[in-house]
Amino acid sequence: MEITSSEFIPLHMAATSLHYGQEAFEGMKAYMGKDGKVRIFRWQENAARMKRSALGIKMAVVPDELFHNAIIRVVELNKRFIPPYGTGASLYIRPLLIGTGPEVGVKPSTDYMFMIFVTPVGPYFKEGFKPVDMIICRDFDRAAPRGTGHIKVGGNYAASLFSLQKGHDEGYASVIYLDSKENKYIDECGPANFFGIKNNIYITPESHSILPSITNMSLMDLAKSEGMNVEKRPVPIEELSTFEEVGACGTAAVISPIKKIVDPQSNQVYEYCKNGKPGPVSVKLYNKLVAIQYGDEPDPFGWIEIIH
Ligand SMILES: Cc1ncc(COP(=O)(O)O)c(C=O)c1O
Repeated sequence: MEITSSEFIPLHMAATSLHYGQEAFEGMKAYMGKDGKVRIFRWQENAARMKRSALGIKMAVVPDELFHNAIIRVVELNKRFIPPYGTGASLYIRPLLIGTGPEVGVKPSTDYMFMIFVTPVGPYFKEGFKPVDMIICRDFDRAAPRGTGHIKVGGNYAASLFSLQKGHDEGYASVIYLDSKENKYIDECGPANFFGIKNNIYITPESHSILPSITNMSLMDLAKSEGMNVEKRPVPIEELSTFEEVGACGTAAVISPIKKIVDPQSNQVYEYCKNGKPGPVSVKLYNKLVAIQYGDEPDPFGWIEIIH
């Protein structure tokens, strides 16, 4: 293991990561509690997802112990950069695995580099927990039906950049991808999962091309513990008109409540949060999860590890 303050890595110009996309990454955060203790959230799930990503594009896997030790070390060494409690900011942790071996033919590398960097990040919502607008992406797919959407590899993000940027340029916070086989069902909201709430049920899409979000998994558990039912199943576009609340979820924002979804094909507009405020279920789940992450509330699920 090497510890460095350099932001650069020496890399062969024929490395498979550069040519054939042998690259997988993770995203997680360390949170500073009121008690001055540093917490990380469900790192085992990030380690497991990185393993699935590696296997999916024929890379060497990172053992859990190495993943864990490296995270602890990098957070400890950068403790002074963890934003203080109460700011809503945190230390973002970015594990990265790349093929470093040179290959001219299309084949997996024989050598891999696993590295982690950290950077402080501000609260996702500068003006507070604010509902956003999204547009259904009708002219691009993020991932093929039997492709790599279910793992966190760089190629998926390259495939999403054009459509995401187009959505931003048109004034939307993100785009909603549909299933790429039939274009009938909701897949994901840019780099976040989708959920809808109705009749005390938390509903989230089931699809091979969605990245299994650790935030979404946690929200499902929290919803159950709050007495809600949870359904993971295909969500047809028409169902959007039946939800009381909808949102996107992921490590970055925890929950981004959605106030408007535009379908450019039918020109239909689905509206939520009519009073301009996030719905009560989204608020409750958001507050619960954030309170566990910062250590303000007990963690009955065993999700938190205190590392310092
Ligand atoms: C495509 C995609 N979907 C969903 C998520 C949310 O996942 P998580 O909650 O693990 O951050 C992410 C972010 O990692 C993502 O990139």
